[in-house]
Amino acid sequence: MRLIKIFDTTLRDGEQSPGASMNVQEKVTVAKQLARLGVDIIEAGFAFSSPGDFEAIKTIGNEVEGPVICSLARAREEDIRAAWEALKDAPKKRIHTFHSTSDIHLKYQFRVSREEALRRSIEMVSLARSFVDDVEFSPMDATRTDMGYLCEVIAAVIEAGASTVNIPDTVGYSIPSEFGAMIKAIHEKVGKIDKAVIAVHCHNDLGLSTANSLAAVLNGAGQIECTVNGIGERAGNCSMEEVVMALRTRRDIFNADTKINTEEIMRSSRLVTKITGISVQPNKAIVGANAFAHESGIHQDGLLKEKSTYEIIRPESIGLYSAKLVLGKHSGRHAFKTRLKELGYSLEGDELNEVFERFKKLADQKKEIFDEDIEALISEGVAKAPEIYSLVDLYIVSGVNQKPTAAIKLRAGDKVVDKLEYGDGPVDATYKAIASVTNTKSKLLKFEVKGITGGTDALGEVVVSLEEDGRAARGHGADTDIIVAAAKAYINALNKLEARRKQ
Ligand code: KIV
Ligand code: ZN
Repeated sequence: MRLIKIFDTTLRDGEQSPGASMNVQEKVTVAKQLARLGVDIIEAGFAFSSPGDFEAIKTIGNEVEGPVICSLARAREEDIRAAWEALKDAPKKRIHTFHSTSDIHLKYQFRVSREEALRRSIEMVSLARSFVDDVEFSPMDATRTDMGYLCEVIAAVIEAGASTVNIPDTVGYSIPSEFGAMIKAIHEKVGKIDKAVIAVHCHNDLGLSTANSLAAVLNGAGQIECTVNGIGERAGNCSMEEVVMALRTRRDIFNADTKINTEEIMRSSRLVTKITGISVQPNKAIVGANAFAHESGIHQDGLLKEKSTYEIIRPESIGLYSAKLVLGKHSGRHAFKTRLKELGYSLEGDELNEVFERFKKLADQKKEIFDEDIEALISEGVAKAPEIYSLVDLYIVSGVNQKPTAAIKLRAGDKVVDKLEYGDGPVDATYKAIASVTNTKSKLLKFEVKGITGGTDALGEVVVSLEEDGRAARGHGADTDIIVAAAKAYINALNKLEARRKQ
């Protein structure tokens, strides 16, 4: 059985999804979950691209144990040096450098010859090797590159010290039979290919990224680059959960597996959705809300008799359990902490006190508390921003033949200010009142509300995206009252915008 390495690029290529940018604290939270999931390599960012990415890579390198931590770097000296500076304290580190190799990119974008691209690639791999032993090289747009030239570049970067060569299908152009044949040909044509691991990095423009990655495994690829929920540039990247579960479920075909702890898949998916604000489509394989929902009578009948009739994956194997009553109003701190631990969260000190306080408040409003409710409480903590504004009180009037009205009380520093506004609905009235008290003019780009569990007393979770003066921020809020959740989400996003403005 071959072990295929999982190179997770949620924090780099995934972050290139429109609207998915994450701050340092959010990236560290995702990286810690990726470590629990058991990925082999975390591409934590692109050190040269921004001070935020640099800091995130450095912090992840210092705080996240287990996986190799990697930074992306163009084939330029300043990028490689920045990657090294960000990574140097990490116990296990990799520099991933890349240069386009297709004629389309070389001629129209970079305006350099094939010879020049080859020279830069060799030089930058050697420079990266002077800092670290673990260097990966990607010939960008490999699937539209002349095969002879591609093999020449691969052989040369291996000679220069690259221990992983990644074959990106940058524009998601390839199809499985062709991509598989390409990986096979690379193994046959490149002399010292056994000195490096061949990786694949497939984009999903034709919906083929998982199929292409699996075809590559059948033809000798030893590393798959992927993201949680398949987020990424344009139509996204190969989805981690799909490729991992395909390998696990069809080991008979692939004779290969990964080290992924699949029971962490659902939690990773939910966390990435919460942090990036990018929801998963209901019919998405493995992690979609309907992935294990059987609607037809014939299927339900079969399942009741024998699960394997219609179920190829056990939901528990990806960490999906039916809503479980865990705690209530009388549960103590010890029981709460134990349940948090079972869910994979080890909170201590102030952090634990804060979440426990919120849990107690929720238990007063809601009789039964489920695991999903606890995760919502935690994710409120993850989304935390400096409390420049906080909600003190909110009174709403709405209904048939009523003029939607919001009377709000907000704390800003040591002042408490109140305001009454009317709107097209209760959320509109609330948001107008908040904007008026805070004197902000942000544009609401996105508003999403969903119930965390079933039941009329369920927690409602609201995610908003705001933009002001060219800056964007996401806010989260959860409450049994969805208008209060909406107010909390809006204030959370405003606090992030304000904190960024001050920075
Ligand atoms: O899609 C791509 O080609 C990339 C490279 C930087 C590997 O993301
Ligand atoms: Zn990519």
